[in-house]
Amino acid sequence: MAAMIAQQPGYRPVDLAEDAKRELLTLDTWAFPESMDLDAVVERPLPLSWDRVRGVRADDGELVACHASYPYALFPVPGARTAVSGLTWVGVHPGHRRRGLLRGMIDEHFARSLGRGEAVSALFAAEPAIYGRFGYGLASHSLTVQVPRGAALREVPAAEAGEPQIRIRFEAVDAERHADVVARIHASVERPGWATRSTPQARLSFLQDAPEHRAGAEPLRLALAEREGEPVGYALLRRRMDWQPAGPRGVVRVREIVAPTPDVARALWSVLVDLDLMSTVEAGLLAVDDPLLGLLVDTRAITARMSDNLWVRLLDLPAALGARRYQAPVDVVLEVSDALLPTNAGRWRLVGGPDGARLTRTEQAADLALDVRELGAAYLGGTSLTSLASAGLVAELSPGALTPAAVAFGWPVAPVSSYVW
Ligand SMILES: CC(C)(COP(=O)(O)OP(=O)(O)OC[C@H]1O[C@@H](n2cnc3c(N)ncnc32)[C@H](O)[C@@H]1OP(=O)(O)O)[C@@H](O)C(=O)NCCC(=O)NCCS
Repeated sequence: MAAMIAQQPGYRPVDLAEDAKRELLTLDTWAFPESMDLDAVVERPLPLSWDRVRGVRADDGELVACHASYPYALFPVPGARTAVSGLTWVGVHPGHRRRGLLRGMIDEHFARSLGRGEAVSALFAAEPAIYGRFGYGLASHSLTVQVPRGAALREVPAAEAGEPQIRIRFEAVDAERHADVVARIHASVERPGWATRSTPQARLSFLQDAPEHRAGAEPLRLALAEREGEPVGYALLRRRMDWQPAGPRGVVRVREIVAPTPDVARALWSVLVDLDLMSTVEAGLLAVDDPLLGLLVDTRAITARMSDNLWVRLLDLPAALGARRYQAPVDVVLEVSDALLPTNAGRWRLVGGPDGARLTRTEQAADLALDVRELGAAYLGGTSLTSLASAGLVAELSPGALTPAAVAFGWPVAPVSSYVW
C-alpha cells in the first residue's frame, strides 16, 4: 500500500523516529498554525508512539506530510473492547496540498492498521468534510454546554441514603504528579468510544498547560472528588476573570469532567456552578446522555451545542462487527459497498445478539444495503440505522428488516470520547 504514495511523483513515504521530532513539529506547525515558538513546542512532551509515526518526503528531502496513530488496544465498543487504530497528526504542508498526499497516507494507514490486527480506525476530524470519502462515518456526537452560575441540581438518592460524602479538593495541576490518578479515574468509566490515553506519553501530554494556550485564563486546576479520601472523580478546569461594570462575569472552562457515579457527578457540578466571581461554566465533549442533563432542574437554563465527535472506519468487517455486542438478537443480510477496501464489499450475514455475533459471507437476498461508512457510523451504537435510512443512507430491501436491525445495533449508553486526540 505504501506504493500508493511512492507512485505520487516526487514523494516517498518514510518512517520517522524520535530524532525527527523537530522536523515533525516544524511540519505540524505549518499544518496547524501555532502561537508558541518552535523551540518551546519542541520542549513539550509528545503523545506519540514513534513506531506508529509516518512521514512523506519530497524529492529534495523535505518532510511535507505526516500521519500517526494511537494504539488503543482496549478501545470500548458496545459490550466489549477491541483494538482500534486512532488516526492522528494528519498534516500536509500548505505548499504540497491537493496532490493526493492525504489519500496516499490513508491507504497506508489502513494497510498498517490491518497488518497490526486492528480492524477499526477512529479519528477526530479537524474539518468534518474530509473523511467521509474514505469510508469514515460519524459515530458519536458530543455536547458543549454553558451552565449559568447557581443552576439548580436535583438531589441524588445515594447521597441522601447516608453513603460516604464526596469531598472536592482543589489542586494546581502538576502533570508528573497527577497523570496517574487522572488516568486511573478516567479508565473507570464504561462507555463506548471512551478512549483512555493509553501510553505514559499520552497521559503526560494531556496535562500540559502552556501559557500560550490559556486564552487569558488561569493555569490548569484539578478539582478532585474523594470518597473517604479515595479519588473517585475529577474536573480539570481554568477560571477566566472578566470584570464588567455590572460586576464580575468570569467563566469557568472545564477541560474534562469524569464522574463515574451519580453522587460524584452531582458533587463536581455543584462546586463548578458555585464558584465566586464566575457567571458561567463552559464544558465540552460531554456525551449526549451526560448525567448533567438528568441533574439539572431546568434544562432550559443551559445552552448546548452539538458537534461531531468520533469518526469510525471499519477496516475488516468480520473482525469489527464480531468484536462488539448487540443489544437484541440480530439476523440480517447486509449488502455493503466499500470503494477503498474491496474485501469488505458484497453480501454478509450478521447473526448474534447480546453475547456476541458472527459475520459470514452469504448468497441470501440482502435485507439492507449500505456503504461501509454507514456501518462505521452505527458501530458504537450512537447513530441509529433508522436515522441513517431516513436520510437515504441505508436502503431497506426487505420490508420490516430495518427496525430490528436498528434496535440491535443501538446501545443504552451514548458513545463519546472525552478528549480530542
Ligand atoms: C486536510 C489535509 C490533510 C488534506 O491533505 P491533501 O494532501 O491536500 O489531500 P488530498 O490531495 O489527498 O485530497 C484527498 C481528498 O480530500 C479532499 N480534501 C482535502 N482537504 C479537504 C478539506 N479540508 N475539506 C474537504 N475536502 C478535502 C480533496 O479534495 C480530495 O478529494 P477527492 O480525492 O475526493 O477529489 C491538508 O489540507 C492539511 O494538512 N490541512 C490542515 C491540517 C488538517 O486539517 N489536518 C487534518 C487533521 S484531522
